Amino acid sequence: MPKLIGTKKINIAVFISGKGSNFKNLIKHSFKKNSKFRISLVISNNSKAKGLNYAKKHNISKKIINYENIKKAEKNILKELKKSKIELICLAGFMRILSNNFIKKFKKKILNIHPSLLPKYKGLDTHQKVVDNKEKYSGCTVHYVSSKLDSGKIIMQKKIKVFRNDTSDKIAKRILKQEHLLYPKALKKVLISL
Ligand code: GAR
Repeated sequence: MPKLIGTKKINIAVFISGKGSNFKNLIKHSFKKNSKFRISLVISNNSKAKGLNYAKKHNISKKIINYENIKKAEKNILKELKKSKIELICLAGFMRILSNNFIKKFKKKILNIHPSLLPKYKGLDTHQKVVDNKEKYSGCTVHYVSSKLDSGKIIMQKKIKVFRNDTSDKIAKRILKQEHLLYPKALKKVLISL
């Protein structure tokens, strides 16, 4: 990995699988005055991901990766990352697990956002689990990606209250709003530390 030095902007790739509201939000932040990053590439395992439209709109290179064979898929991703000189990766609703081998190549350079207060509720259906377990609080977490699912070192978290009549949809909407505040803040914290 190239050493991240000086005041130049860090080249970021965002990985998405779906609607890409976090991707859209990170793009917005990348255009802010004094932003320390540029989004140069978006990767998706899903050619129909709605979020890919934001790439077109903002002239960001996009690459759709066929995930039938994970080894080949990751080889292709690495090639694209190299081509675009990517220094940091932000997973934003990317619904594929990265291999140990891949993660090692970007040690402490892959961030993820997860819609729960990790270490609680790793994996899928987090909001429904929160409702079923009558949790009083939930939230979102930005963390480094490690070889274990949703388990890397936590960078920042935001807690929200869960109400008695909450549904998983209502919680998801409220948490997503918080994700849009948390991810840029956590990213800023990471970029300052580089
Ligand atoms: C977000 O809520 C994100 O936290 C979640 O997927 C959603 C993507 O929304 N990620 C995970 O569940 C990863 N384990 P978006 O496509 O609108 O950014």
